[in-house]
Amino acid sequence: MKNTIWTGLGLGLSLWVIVGCKPVRPTHDFLADNIKFAANQYKAQMEELEKSDKICIPRTVKPDGNMQYASIGWDWTAGFYPGSLWYLYNLTEEEYWKSLAEKYTEALEKMQYNTSHHDVGFIIGCSYMNGIRMGGEEKYKPVVVQAAKSLSTRFRPVAGVIQSWNTQKGWQSERGWKCPVIIDNMMNLELLFEATRLSGDSTFYNIAVSHADKTLKNHFRKDGSSYHVVDYDPETGEVRSRSTAQGYADESAWARGQAWVIYGYTMCYRYTHNPAYLKQAERTYNFIFTHTNMPEDLVPYWDYDALNIPNEPRDVSSAAITASALYELSSATRYAGYKETADLIMASLASSAYRAELGDNQGFLLMHSVGSIPHGNEIDVPLNYADYYFLEALKRKRDME
Ligand code: GLY
Repeated sequence: MKNTIWTGLGLGLSLWVIVGCKPVRPTHDFLADNIKFAANQYKAQMEELEKSDKICIPRTVKPDGNMQYASIGWDWTAGFYPGSLWYLYNLTEEEYWKSLAEKYTEALEKMQYNTSHHDVGFIIGCSYMNGIRMGGEEKYKPVVVQAAKSLSTRFRPVAGVIQSWNTQKGWQSERGWKCPVIIDNMMNLELLFEATRLSGDSTFYNIAVSHADKTLKNHFRKDGSSYHVVDYDPETGEVRSRSTAQGYADESAWARGQAWVIYGYTMCYRYTHNPAYLKQAERTYNFIFTHTNMPEDLVPYWDYDALNIPNEPRDVSSAAITASALYELSSATRYAGYKETADLIMASLASSAYRAELGDNQGFLLMHSVGSIPHGNEIDVPLNYADYYFLEALKRKRDME
């Protein structure tokens, strides 16, 4: 039954290509064309950045059209830009990118001690961890281990989860949460798995597995979709509520949250070989790719249940994260249909509907992402993490082929 559904879906997507609907399958020079575009676009952006004597990390474009930089002190998105530089180094093999990747990575050194939110995993993972993988930077290993120690301070042992956000200040303090865990947190587990591999200390691995298992138990609906926020009682471990912060409604399916699931559980399978993780990634894949509100070009609206579909913003970041995840899911399951879907998403993202013109878009690669509509932040803009996962997907596609 399982294979019938997914094979059927794969055939359905192939049929779109045959009958000529969008998206079309990438051509043989797809990789070369996109790598060349990305390098040229980021080179022009970098020339602007390097005019400053400060280190500025692009995050998005403000409503007035100017660049919004990430705060190097705390911003969850700060690691994506150095990560993109590591991918450009890997994809082009040009030394030019290596020295810049080092410079922008090392600007985040203090972040390894950040214990104020769970995003140290994204920040240090995308920068330093990629520097070890793609730049051979042995000296970055202690930074990754220290960042894992910082993240582990947020582990709440009775509940068995890592607390995502603090609740004393800001808008989070108005929600009545005690120990909020957001589905995005699955992404931060990669740092813990890697820290165990680098240090031999299994504490990090055990925390990651505990978090992934509790999330598996408490974050999902019967249809395979994920809640955004699950609040735990850290003293009893009970679930206090299930809600949203960035989605349309508590019971809706926020698009990026579903992308984090597919990516996060596929990544957890890589380190554990637990088939339950792979099954969850496949269930959520099945949920989104059979959803009546998934557009033909496979770039989702910001929430699958948003009220005014089709007149709602798309979220390109969700599509890029999903494409990257599906290349890995395809290798893990040996099911080619996932790669076919990833290729179709990538063809859409590389089309003029979503990929910027050279020199436009403040130097970002992709247009039309969404940060948080309920907060009125970053609506229909470029985002550094959409670019990061697009580049990662290019690398994964190239490595598979
Ligand atoms: N992790 C924050 C977000 O996905 O918006």
